[in-house]
Formats: sequence, C-alpha cells, structure tokens
Amino acid sequence: MAPRGPRALPLTPNLGAVLPGVTLADEMDDEVFRAIYQAFLRYQVLLFPPQDLPPARQVSFARRFGEVQIHVMNQYHADGYPELYRLSNLDQDGRPSGHHPDKGTLAWHTDGSWQRVTGQATIIYGEVMPESGGETHFCDMYGAYERLDASWKKRIEDLRAVHNLDFSRTRRHGEDPLTDEQRRAKPPVDHPVVRTHPETGRKCLYLGDHAEYIVGMPYDEGRALIEELNALAVHPDLTYEHRWKTGELLVWDNRCVMHRATPFDVARQGRVIRRCTVLGEVPA
Ligand SMILES: [Fe+2]
Repeated sequence: MAPRGPRALPLTPNLGAVLPGVTLADEMDDEVFRAIYQAFLRYQVLLFPPQDLPPARQVSFARRFGEVQIHVMNQYHADGYPELYRLSNLDQDGRPSGHHPDKGTLAWHTDGSWQRVTGQATIIYGEVMPESGGETHFCDMYGAYERLDASWKKRIEDLRAVHNLDFSRTRRHGEDPLTDEQRRAKPPVDHPVVRTHPETGRKCLYLGDHAEYIVGMPYDEGRALIEELNALAVHPDLTYEHRWKTGELLVWDNRCVMHRATPFDVARQGRVIRRCTVLGEVPA
C-alpha cells in the first residue's frame, strides 16, 4: 500500500517544499505527521498554503515536533499562549505604527542559537501580510559548509562561537534592549561553528547574527571571522526567498538554515506573524 500523507513539491532545486492538502486545524494522524517530518528533514523549509489556523492548533502542531519554547521576551506572548510569540507593527486600533517590532530579524540568523539547547523547528503563521516587502529568506547551511574550500574547513573545524542575544539584540540592533532579568536568564553560550545535524548526520555551518566572538581568539579577529563566514554562507542558488500570502504557515529547521526578514513600509503596511519555536538539542 502506498504511504499516506502529503506529497512535498520542491520550491527550488535545493531547499524548500510546499505541502498542499494538509488541513492543519484538524487532528493529524501519526502517518501524516511522519510524512511531514520526513519532508522537513529533506527540504529544510516547508510551506503550507493559506488556511485558518487557530492559535491553539498551531501550538498543538508545534508540539508534534518537540518541546515548544517559552520565549524569554515575554512582552511578545500572544493570545494567552506563552508558546506563541507575536510580532506586529499594528497599534491597538489596528493601524501601522511606524515601528518595526524586531529589527534583529532583518539580519541572517538561526532561532535560539543564544541558548544552550537551540531551536529545532520554527513555525510561523502569517496573520497579516504587507503588499510588498516583509519576505522571509532562507539559506542552506549544509551547502554553505560544503562550498567552503578545504583550507576554510580546516581552519574552522574545532572552533566554537559564543552566541549572545544581548549582543545581537541590544548592541547591534539597538532598540528595546533586554531587561536585566531577561539578560540574567539567558547568559552567553558557546557552540561549535561546524555542527552535525543530529538526525541527518550532515555537517553544516552554525553561526548567524547571534554569534558574537570565537572562543580563544582575540575579540576583533573572531568578529571579523564570523562576519566573513556569515557572508560566505549565503549563495543565491542555495537560497529560498518566500513572499508571504496571508494565512500561510512556514516551518523550517534552524539546525541547517539561516533566515532573515526583509524590510517593509512599517508606517503604511501591516505585518503580523505568530511564531512558535520548538527546542532541539545541544549542538555537537
Ligand atoms: Fe528568526
């Protein structure tokens, strides 16, 4: 008997696939979820076409992937669900406020790399989307590693980078800094620069905007190395650029992709997303 479950249709030759025909608000049997999870490991980024998805159902879908993170930045908790994090530029009357809710998302990064146990899947539902801009771009970090030449691979094989939310959020992007309590709750952590994906066994580069410096290397030298590798990681032919439609859901694997959002006109257009991050493991 042919396996049941949705068929993944690739979005690019390398990463990303759309999964039509899945009603995420319904109960999902194990076989369907297994097919989704296999596609998640194979394609790194999954797109589910526009549909209604109540907050509670988004949380229960996320729980199929693993333990859902309760984000330290509690000002973003949405709809009474601490598992959901809402990023919105609309004011209380539903009008664009002119304020970008999180400028840190504009730089290439991987969710939760500033924690000891880092992010596995991020699951975002697009509640309101602008007519232009506000895209989400993904780059393949398996490919980023594989395309490094042998001398780069040798140079970074045993390096560890310190990831620090306070660095990326407060010092680099400037707005809405962490509170002292949030800072104490999330001290800097170090992770390997080259990690092995725990499920696929493939090596990938693991850096992004939360990476501040390299353990055992002078600070400025480490900063320069991180900036250089973050730039080297992005190849146009190993990138998927998603232009959102309202009601879509995206799922991606933070262990092997970086992502960023593109700017939009925050004074004239609305953009509201609801996000869940599933916790993964300590990178190795
Ligand atoms: Fe993110």
